[in-house]
Amino acid sequence: MKVLVVGSGGREHVICWKLKQSKRVSELYCCPGNGGIASVATCVDIKATDVDKIVEYASSNNFDLVFVAPEDPLALGLVDKLNENGIRAFGPKANAAIIEASKVFSKNLMAKYHIPTAEYALFDNKEKAYDYLEGCEMPIVIKADGLALGKGVIIAKDIDEAKAAVSSMLEDKAFGDAGSNIVIEECMVGPELTILAFSDGEYAIPMISSRDHKRAYDHDEGLNTGGMGAVTPGADLSDDDVKVISDTIIQPTIEALKSEGRPFKGVIYFGLMLTKKGPKVIEYNCRFGDPEVQAILPLLENDFMDVIDAVIDGKLSTYKLSWKNKKSCVVVMASGGYPVKYEKGYEISGIDTCGKLVFQAGTKLTDDGKIVTNGGRVLCVYDEADSLDNAIDGAYEGVKKISFKDMHYRTDIGRTLG
Ligand code: AMP
Ligand code: GLY
Repeated sequence: MKVLVVGSGGREHVICWKLKQSKRVSELYCCPGNGGIASVATCVDIKATDVDKIVEYASSNNFDLVFVAPEDPLALGLVDKLNENGIRAFGPKANAAIIEASKVFSKNLMAKYHIPTAEYALFDNKEKAYDYLEGCEMPIVIKADGLALGKGVIIAKDIDEAKAAVSSMLEDKAFGDAGSNIVIEECMVGPELTILAFSDGEYAIPMISSRDHKRAYDHDEGLNTGGMGAVTPGADLSDDDVKVISDTIIQPTIEALKSEGRPFKGVIYFGLMLTKKGPKVIEYNCRFGDPEVQAILPLLENDFMDVIDAVIDGKLSTYKLSWKNKKSCVVVMASGGYPVKYEKGYEISGIDTCGKLVFQAGTKLTDDGKIVTNGGRVLCVYDEADSLDNAIDGAYEGVKKISFKDMHYRTDIGRTLG
């Protein structure tokens, strides 16, 4: 099969790496890809959000499958347009990808179908939001409705901070149109957990759980980032715990979307908080989490192409996922200054000699064959072992053998709650 993957991060690198191992994949391309992806796939210089160009490229080059990994092209309807042109594609259509593209939509969906989540109210007017805040307990969470690269969430510890957050979103347009509508919601407390699930529109199979570390610095300090590292499993869940999450959150969400005429086919991401009153949804995403998937896919034993087919063809109810009996850890190496301001173009050394699997994110292959930094999150160093402690130690052994100017990584991945 001839396969095209859309995207350019660490997530797309692990997807390409896993597809490359499939006996059924003979030709692999990625648009636009990155320095690491170039070692497993042919990179094609088309932006992931250039929907028309991707559709044209995929039709004129006879691809058997296009795997759409990031949220932006999914929300823009890339899968819809590929399908309209007779091209098989992996990922939800735009009307289902909305669960990530609009927090207002997802909160209303959860309320309508009684899926446990934080209490909330919606506003597009500053004065009304201010009035509402007067009656709220602090801390309180303020969220922009639309896509904001994980940055549109503010946890305000008092009413002044809460009002400042409302004003920055609704008045100063800190997140542009993404913040024209806002969600004000109860601040939940508890460990966070990521559950990713494959869904065929009717039925979902959860993958092994994982835990992301979203803040930039150790001990969960600093700004929220896309994710600085992840471990699997994400919590010590019993079979009963998994059943509660499946029965109260995963399957009800898939059925809710189907009832709304928005069947979800692809990977659905459940950001959960394990509160004293049980697991509740923090957020949905319409795709694999990054860096969670870099910790998960290396443990999948199935041929990835078979899983993809089961999702697209609606066969998950009779499909079985199989996992290596190991724990895993990925540590993200980022450019100094990420997630705010950072330089690019620094040469990276040690990737091939560090002895660990390294998934590349913001990197570029130069004309003279060097790998240089080209983004905020640069690399993801992976290891697996029988115990989580050993997996974490192994990933850090790899990290210590890699270097580039101004590099920054957290030293407590897997050691704190996230
Ligand atoms: P989100 O983009 O919705 O995942 O939010 C980013 C991060 O903000 C989450 O990973 C949580 O750490 C935190 N967060 C979001 N919503 C809440 C909430 N209602 N209560 C407590 N923490 C939250
Ligand atoms: N790691 C969080 C995300 O992918 O949204």
